[in-house]
Amino acid sequence: MSELKHFLQFKDFTRDEFEYLFERTRIIKERFKSYKKYWPLEDRTLVMIFEKASTRTRLSFEAGMHQLGGSAIYLNTRDSQLGRGEPVEDAGQVISRMSDIVMIRTFEQEIIERFARNSRVPVINGLTNEYHPCQILADIYTYIEHRGSIQGKTVAWIGDSNNMCNTWLQAAEVLDFNVHVSTPPGYEVEPERAGLYGTDHYEAFADPMDAARDADLMTTDVWTSMGYEAENEARMKAFADWQVDEDMMRVAKPDALFMHCLPAHRGEEVSAGVMDSPQSVVWDEAENRLHVQKALMEYLLLGKLDQ
Ligand code: CP
Ligand code: NVA
Repeated sequence: MSELKHFLQFKDFTRDEFEYLFERTRIIKERFKSYKKYWPLEDRTLVMIFEKASTRTRLSFEAGMHQLGGSAIYLNTRDSQLGRGEPVEDAGQVISRMSDIVMIRTFEQEIIERFARNSRVPVINGLTNEYHPCQILADIYTYIEHRGSIQGKTVAWIGDSNNMCNTWLQAAEVLDFNVHVSTPPGYEVEPERAGLYGTDHYEAFADPMDAARDADLMTTDVWTSMGYEAENEARMKAFADWQVDEDMMRVAKPDALFMHCLPAHRGEEVSAGVMDSPQSVVWDEAENRLHVQKALMEYLLLGKLDQ
């Protein structure tokens, strides 16, 4: 593949590319589950840069790269020159000369874009204030595994219009499904920040029960994302009526799934009963981060493969 490709937000890829990735994920996951060695990225190096905490993202990228035959290096702001003011453009130049692919978790989207503009190798967004595209890739793959195509389906997003919400909205435009969003007043979706084309794939509801009605998939996330901790007290009050609980699940479709990117706070954005119910697929969702990101790294480094 000659053209350098990055995955900085969901709409960086087309629907065809996502269909390819979902099929590759299926094959790679199946191979892994049957203990077949598959090393297409032998001798390749992934650098992971973390400016915020992580369990799943670090683990899935690091394990995934090893399983594909490559190696992974972990850098964080605290222990690298990034935390001492080295310009992100310079970091992009240097890090991309010593590696084959880079994953970054940081604050503003603008930071990852500046890094990517100075990078010789593909850059993956491992979460920014605005977007979390790898998580939505895993979520949609999980939906497909359980229920088939997501096209035409309705996802209910209950809670904060954060990085996860924005990415669901982008995904709805690319993959042609609908998102019903309910946020407390003052926390509404900002379409420009969400990076939407404006193709009318989402609807806002004042009452979360209305957003949940007849949904195929119910989903939510923490009320206070990383980087917004100073607002925690105000957010706890504002979001109190936006908990996904058993009453809310009852108005969704009877076979609706529940998803949460994790980490979750039982008793805040989701009741313990819903989180641990048979409709909840949160553990599959977490596991699928591993499989979709292996397909993603393979695609960014090797392009489309025949088998
Ligand atoms: N869902 C997710 O990205 O989890 P981590 O913050 O643990 O990486
Ligand atoms: N919205 C959350 C997601 C964590 C995986 C955050 O940004 O903190």
